[in-house]
Amino acid sequence: MLLTLIEMEHFPKMSPKTKLGLIYGSAREGRFCDTMVNWAAAEIAGDGRFAANRIDPRDLDRNRAEIARSLDEADAFVIVTPEYNHGYTGALKSLIDAYSQQWQIKPVAFVSYGGVSGGLRAVEQLRLVFAELHAVGIRDTVSFVSPWNRFDSAGALVEPKDPQRAMKTLLARLHWWAVILRNARDTSSYFEVAA
Ligand SMILES: Cc1cc2nc3c(=O)[nH]c(=O)nc-3n(C[C@H](O)[C@H](O)[C@H](O)COP(=O)(O)O)c2cc1C
Repeated sequence: MLLTLIEMEHFPKMSPKTKLGLIYGSAREGRFCDTMVNWAAAEIAGDGRFAANRIDPRDLDRNRAEIARSLDEADAFVIVTPEYNHGYTGALKSLIDAYSQQWQIKPVAFVSYGGVSGGLRAVEQLRLVFAELHAVGIRDTVSFVSPWNRFDSAGALVEPKDPQRAMKTLLARLHWWAVILRNARDTSSYFEVAA
């Protein structure tokens, strides 16, 4: 028994997974966003360091409190955004604006898609929005030009290598920020420094 206790004391603690909010950027009926989010979710699961929870603007009216809980718990976010007329969607803005402290001092990374721009103009606008919310936008983005030509009917990428490599980099940096900022939130009061 004593030996067991000593062994337990020296057994490396299992590090818990970082909680990640995976956010749909489109609420449209028939949205391509489902394919994109499924791909992102599979890549996040493959990374192994995150436990992802999907958050959908379609649920905002019904499940506002539940979404608040999911956002609260998350230490990092991945936003999967399309681009409409050089911007992101109203549904995504409504979701973002419905909450405030849930975003603060947390990292946000972007997976984007669209026509010629691959959704990057929407991402640049979202960076401004998240700066206002005291969130940290991750530099690395995974962007898909015309993804409807790049996924097969089962939702798998025809040529997965480059996006997978980009997603690996994005997740590594997102995880770094998530751990650092989690620790910072736990040990220091961000808002008091400018009180
Ligand atoms: C009204 C409209 C405007 C669009 N504007 C853009 C645009 O400015 N840039 C772009 O890259 N794609 C644009 N697209 C393509 C969308 O990004 C594409 O349809 C995408 O699948 C939308 O996401 P969703 O299917 O998940 O809703 C536009 C599509 C529509 C219908």
